[in-house]
Amino acid sequence: MPVITNIADLKRIYERRVPRMFYDYAESGSWTEQTFRENTSDFDQIRLRQRVAVDMTGRNTASQMIGQDVAMPVALAPVGLTGMQHADGEMKAARAAEEFGVPFTLSTMSINSIEDVADYTNKPFWFQLYTMKDTDYVSRLIQRAKDAKCSALVITLDLQILGQRHKDLKNGLSAPPKLTPSTVANLMTKWTWGLQMLRAHRREFGNIVGHVDGISDASSLGAWTAEQFDPSLDWGKVEKLMNEWGGKVILKGILDAEDAKMAAKLGADAIVVSNHGGRQLDGALSSIRVLPEIMDAVGDSVEVHLDSGIRSGQDVLKALALGAKGTYVGRAFVYGLGAMGQAGVTKALEVIHKELDTTMALCGEKNVAGLSRDNLLVPADFGGRWA
Ligand SMILES: Cc1cc2nc3c(=O)[nH]c(=O)nc-3n(C[C@H](O)[C@H](O)[C@H](O)COP(=O)(O)O)c2cc1C
Repeated sequence: MPVITNIADLKRIYERRVPRMFYDYAESGSWTEQTFRENTSDFDQIRLRQRVAVDMTGRNTASQMIGQDVAMPVALAPVGLTGMQHADGEMKAARAAEEFGVPFTLSTMSINSIEDVADYTNKPFWFQLYTMKDTDYVSRLIQRAKDAKCSALVITLDLQILGQRHKDLKNGLSAPPKLTPSTVANLMTKWTWGLQMLRAHRREFGNIVGHVDGISDASSLGAWTAEQFDPSLDWGKVEKLMNEWGGKVILKGILDAEDAKMAAKLGADAIVVSNHGGRQLDGALSSIRVLPEIMDAVGDSVEVHLDSGIRSGQDVLKALALGAKGTYVGRAFVYGLGAMGQAGVTKALEVIHKELDTTMALCGEKNVAGLSRDNLLVPADFGGRWA
């Protein structure tokens, strides 16, 4: 067993264990991948203010996200096809999250279904909704999430149409993978993954197959999803969905101050400042760079969360210090899952927690609520003068 000290260690093991098609699926951004790269490099531009001779005993990373207690303000982001990164991936990640005491968000495009995850866990999880043209199907999904006692609906707003990731097209991404000569050659080197996958609960999209008429195989499913995302989604439809759900709502994919204000006006419980991990609009600014402007625009009118580019507890601290009340990790937990299943997700959370706690201490803070802009050194033009 290698010694794992950071998220990059998990990523190296993940790359070795998981078929190339699914590694590439996670490790890509859209088009030139500029936004994907800047999501992480922009975090690196922010520095930390070291403070000394401060009593550091009794530190605590516990906090709340949308009124729910969390061991640290780091949720697992919704990630499609998680059950292809590791057998029963959504079930395993959800259990790791609940044992750690952080929220798990199940994607509409998951392999394990809402019901699979509800049966396998004890605490409520969050459900992420993609809006589809088939409104009956969307209503049924919302009802299934209610029946499963999901405690928040995360409505994703930045994927009405799919950003292009070159590698997915070249690899012929599908779930389960189609057995072309190159896929088979690669699978031959991933025996553990394959054997575990043979015993998996599911290998197809669990929230869709069997819940929509006319879908019997994975290839028709690919065409169905491409056609089904609703390009006409607007604020009026978002409001209707919020009313239909009737519980806590998080609006995900906000990157502009005007949109943030609109989401606050609609009464969302939280917004997620996010560019979908650099997978949608290439050329958009990184989430951490737009966060200060969005905080200025919405103030306390809505809880602000952030994702995209978080690879360490130090990144979490930077987002919190700039005003976010919560953060999400996507790839960081996927690396752990692909590397070591449930234990790997736990490891990823432990790594992030330790980094957050130690950084907090060395910045002279005892709890996450105390973090502020004062803990950071931010380049004078970080927000940029974009016209
Ligand atoms: C492989 C992959 C699949 C994703 N699938 C979804 C999804 O189904 N729904 C969604 O709202 N966001 C999805 N996202 C975006 C994540 O929820 C999150 O915004 C992003 O991963 C954050 O960036 P990070 O990976 O740098 O942490 C996906 C991201 C990745 C990497």
